[in-house]
Parts: sequence; structure tokens; C-alpha cells
Amino acid sequence: MNLADHLLPKDIFDQVAQSAHELNLETYVIGGFVRDILLKRPSKDIDFVCLGSGIALAKASAKKLGTKRVTTYKNFGTAMIKHEYHELEFVGARKESYRKESRKPTVEDGTLEDDQNRRDFTINALAISLQSENYGELVDPFDGVQDLKRKMIRTPLEPAITFSDDPLRMMRAIRFASQLNFDIDPNTFDAIQQEAQRIKIVSKERIIVELNKIILSKTPSYGFKLLFQCGLLQLIFPEMTDLYGVETREGRSHKDNFYHTLQVLDNISESTDDLYLRWAAILHDIAKPPTKRFNKKVGWTFHGHEDRGARMTPGIFKRLKLPLNDRMKYVQKLVRLHLRPIALVKKEITDSAIRRLLFEAGDDVDDLMTLCKADITTKNPNKVKRYLQNFDIVAQKLKDIEEKDQVRNFQPPVTGEEIMEIFNLEPSRIVGDIKNEIREAILEGHISNDKKEALNLMYRIAKEKGLEV
Ligand code: CTP
Repeated sequence: MNLADHLLPKDIFDQVAQSAHELNLETYVIGGFVRDILLKRPSKDIDFVCLGSGIALAKASAKKLGTKRVTTYKNFGTAMIKHEYHELEFVGARKESYRKESRKPTVEDGTLEDDQNRRDFTINALAISLQSENYGELVDPFDGVQDLKRKMIRTPLEPAITFSDDPLRMMRAIRFASQLNFDIDPNTFDAIQQEAQRIKIVSKERIIVELNKIILSKTPSYGFKLLFQCGLLQLIFPEMTDLYGVETREGRSHKDNFYHTLQVLDNISESTDDLYLRWAAILHDIAKPPTKRFNKKVGWTFHGHEDRGARMTPGIFKRLKLPLNDRMKYVQKLVRLHLRPIALVKKEITDSAIRRLLFEAGDDVDDLMTLCKADITTKNPNKVKRYLQNFDIVAQKLKDIEEKDQVRNFQPPVTGEEIMEIFNLEPSRIVGDIKNEIREAILEGHISNDKKEALNLMYRIAKEKGLEV
């Protein structure tokens, strides 16, 4: 197979091939870029492997491309240059395992075949020649093209060898399966099941990169089911596997919260590519196992799972090496509030309940509604229809009340500084109490969100408290 026409942008490949020729270095394009040509996926990282010094080739190519900066990793024999939108990486062919993030110094130079042998999957071991005599020719020793056609993830060597070179590859196998909607070859999958424990020696930072890519794939439940089946999920994220299973007592069962969560995740993935909104779906019911109780009258309950789940969120983020910043707070908020719109649907909707929700959810109220809609997983189409109609009513009310009262980004109409100045007070509890009473009166609808009304109320409260102007 000749892929010369696909080596684009042309100037990059022409200049690298020319440099390779001048340095007398046999050179190939290899890895994800080649795979993505065949899958017709766009890709901006291009990996080159040469039989000799990758650094020398990078320097010569950079010169020809007019790029000044070459980042070299001398100990590892690799170099990287950025050219317009593309990142080009150069490496000398090696005998031992290849992975980009590896901090292991190179030991021994190898042939192209050695290099291909030590890559993770057959579909990632494809190479394209840049030699003038066979420019564009595909080198595919492990039937990677066949595996692309069969939609199959398979290791080039015995899977146990490939995985012991780098156990993260077990996660990568599932990540590629989930991203590309491929199967995993049974032999390869068996090895993952057997070697799963070895994931423990891999850093959490590398694991979360793969897990997030699974979460961002089109149907993330597929990746999670594979992680679960092979035992990896239990090791990296046990709170999630705790959701698995159905318990029955006195003829009453609760739903399987693991599969429910995956359904919610798939549902939300149809309306958002936001990683953290997807994380909110994953975590929305995470505290159901520790809050589960059986009650003879009502059956199974999970009281307070939304608060408990919100409290669990920082710990889970910390352990998984997810960021502990406003993104975590956002997920935490959505987990804490995820039952609120549903509760509104069930009861008669009061304006004050709507104002309270707007006040607490702030700008994330739309995302909260997206999460709640995704949380509808009943198989009964009539119920789905009814729930969605009710949500539309809540959504409309949220809009109307916000237009009227503007509590979504609530700013106290009378500030603490003003209260202190008017009554000649030092910063103290009483100032906070007055502010809170004003806010409550607005949320309850006793006064409107208006400065004049708030000042009037402030004077009344102050009088009751015996304060003087
Ligand atoms: N590779 C490997 N083992 C790893 C990581 C990477 O063998 N643990 C090899 C594969 O040949 C892979 C190439 O290095 O194709 C580049 O790795 P990377 O950039 O991580 O992945 P891509 O295949 O390019 O895919 P993506 O861009 O989707 O991450």
C-alpha cells in the first residue's frame, strides 16, 4: 500500500525526507499519525523514527522548515519541534519498549522491526517509508491494517510482554477501544485480566489521562464496562464499582446504580463534551452505597446521598489527581444539587423554591438541568415524556423568575460596608445577621430584590435589634 498522497502537509514530509537523505538516515513516519491517516481522523502530532540519531534529524529538519526551537532530550535520544499547528517528534529506533512519556534512558539502538515490536498495539506500529526509492510505502509487519478493518485492538507481541513493558497500556487498550469503537482481541483482553494488578505501579497522573479520554469518548459506558470486566476499574476507582449490584429484601429490589450511572453518563454525553459535566454524571450517585438503608414501610432509601456525594468529591478528585480547583467545586455543586430540580417537578412549584435554586446554582443552573434530564433512565416512554414536560415547566419558571428577580448571580442589595457605616458598627456578627435576613426575605419573596426595599427592611431589623443610626 502506498500512502504518499496522504503525507500532508507536504512541505513537512518533503523537508524531513530531504534531511534524512542528506544525513543518510533511513526514516519512517510511525505510530498514531499513520493509524489516523487510515482511519481518516485528523491528527496534529507526527512521530518520525530513524535508524540513527533522532536529534540530528530533528535539527536538520528544523533548519529546512525555518523553525528555530528544537527541544531535545539527550538522555532519551529524542527531539521535538513545533511547526505551525503540528508537533513533530523524532526518535532513533530502539530495541526496548517505546513510550513518549518514558523517562528511561535509551540503551540500545535497534532496527525498524525492533522498534515496531516494542510498540503498544498493531494499529500503532504501522510505519510509512520516507526513502526516495519507496516513498510512501506502508510497513505493516503485524497486520495492523487488517486489525483496523476488523476494528480490533491487539498487541504486536505476546500481550503479557507488551503490558509488562508498560502496564498503562492496559488502560490504553480500553481507551482506544472506547474512542474508536473497536473490540479488544480476546488474547489481549485475557492478559489485561491477568495483569490488572500491575496498574498499581503506574502513576496516577498517567492513569487519569487515559480515564479522561475514555470519559470523553462518544459512548463512554463501553470503556467503563471493559474497565469493569477486566478488574481495572475496581483498582483505580473502587467507589464506582461499589455502585454495582442489586439487593433484594422482602421481595423489594433497588436498581443497579452502576449501570444507571453509565446510562446517565451516556445520556449526558449526547448533549455535552465538557469533561467535568461528564464527571458530575459519574459522581451524582456515588454516595448511594454508603447511604443505602432498608425500611419495611418504604423499601430502599438513599437519604442524603447528594450531600454525602458532594462531601466525597474532593477526596476522589485528590486521589485520582483531578484538579482541586473551581472545576472540582463545580462538580461538587452539581452533585449536591442534582435532586433539586426533580424535587421541584414533584411538588407544586413555588417562586421561592425557584429563587433558592437559582441562588444556589448560580450560572451553573443550565448544566444542572442538563444533568437532571440525563438522570431520567426509566424505560417507560410515557414516564420519560411526562418527566421531560415537567422539566420544561421548571426551566420556563427558572427563566421567568430570573428575569423578574435576578437572583442567579445574587449580589446583596445592601452591602456589609453600608450597614457598618450607617449604624457605626465594627465588623461583627450582627452585620452578617442583617445581611442574611435581607437575603432570606428576598428569596422568600417578602420583598423584591431592590435597594430601596432592602434599605427599608434593614432599618426595621435594626430597630428590632435596638441599633441606632
Ligand atoms: N506508544 C507505545 N506505548 C505507550 C505509549 C505510546 O507504544 N505506552 C507508542 C505508540 O506507537 C503510539 C505512539 O507511541 O502510537 C505515540 O503515542 P501517543 O502520542 O501517546 O498516542 P497516539 O497513538 O498518537 O494517540 P493519541 O494521539 O490519541 O494519544
